[in-house]
Amino acid sequence: MNIETLKKQFFNLYGEGDCKIYFAPGRVNLIGEHVDYNGGYVFPCALSFGTYLILREREDDSIFFSSENFEYKTRISTSEIKKGNKEWVKYPMGVLDQFQKRGFKAKGMELLFSGNIPNGAGLSSSASVELVMSVAFNELAEANLDQIELVKMSQKAENDFVGVNCGIMDQFAIGMGVKNHVLALNCDTLAYDIVPLKMDGYKLVIGNTNKQRGLADSKYNERRAECELAVELIDREQKIDFLCELNNETFENLKHLLKNDVILRRAKHVVSENQRVFEAIDALKKGELEEFGLLMNASHDSLRDDYEVTGVELDTMVEEARKIDDVLGSRMTGAGFGGCTVSLVKDEAVATFIKTVGENYKNRVGLEPDFYVAEIGDGAKRLE
Ligand code: GLA
Repeated sequence: MNIETLKKQFFNLYGEGDCKIYFAPGRVNLIGEHVDYNGGYVFPCALSFGTYLILREREDDSIFFSSENFEYKTRISTSEIKKGNKEWVKYPMGVLDQFQKRGFKAKGMELLFSGNIPNGAGLSSSASVELVMSVAFNELAEANLDQIELVKMSQKAENDFVGVNCGIMDQFAIGMGVKNHVLALNCDTLAYDIVPLKMDGYKLVIGNTNKQRGLADSKYNERRAECELAVELIDREQKIDFLCELNNETFENLKHLLKNDVILRRAKHVVSENQRVFEAIDALKKGELEEFGLLMNASHDSLRDDYEVTGVELDTMVEEARKIDDVLGSRMTGAGFGGCTVSLVKDEAVATFIKTVGENYKNRVGLEPDFYVAEIGDGAKRLE
């Protein structure tokens, strides 16, 4: 992203003068999928690409929203921050609504967003917009809220204002990411640890299936409801608030309570995935990348067979990836139903990987994929 060009664009839109620039990354989750809203552990990191926001305060109460990524622009007054807008502005508006709920009234401002995260690819472009708005408005309003509070407000904006019942993982990784580290996050308590991403001789390659996540939001909410039902059924015999309070063993002893096969498999995924996260954190700390790769594979297979959130595009890309020598593991990342995979690939094999997986995927699925070698960056912040 060229900041000078972006600034010129801002001046063209709103006129010359002082302005501030903020950035929030996208995220990739290495393992721990669909466990955040089940009180489990996740293991994501912030990417080096993300969303930029240029902001200038105004004397009046008009808020101008504009983005380089979407045609839709709008101007509203500070009293018009209301649900119902279906366009991208619902994300930053949702954040401003959260500030208002905490007593920090919205202010007149000129905003220009610009992102280089592919939209709808499961790398959290929307959470990135939320966090960049949060960090920027926190400064403008002199609210002095700490970064974790901004993370929670961004999630709440998505839940209450946008209507997607997401967990905390994306906003947390984007708000709290640390360059070249992975966050080992307990999604129940928000206690976390940062683990150096020691990838001696290996790279994380993100593969975008370019399958848009069509029904993702409704399917996502359906999975959440299935997990809640599983908790309710188990809770009759043993008090639990979240599925991730169980481990593989305790789950074995209680699974007879889940008579419906679908609910049983959903719960099995969640419990086993949480266990895999512990093992993966341990493996990465010890530099056991082969073990890490096997856990990535097992994670994908469980998301495919038991949680049923993969689909032909993600499965094909993962299958093709695993055929390449020097790939230690490959899995979907994010919510699923399309979007991206992440694979652990030996340095020397990256070029072959991209070429071969790309061609084979295209031949089988008919879509042109994209690949990015992941660079792990910092969380949301003001750029000097
Ligand atoms: C989406 C949600 C997250 C998380 C993942 C699945 O990215 O926003 O909260 O649930 O799906 O792990």
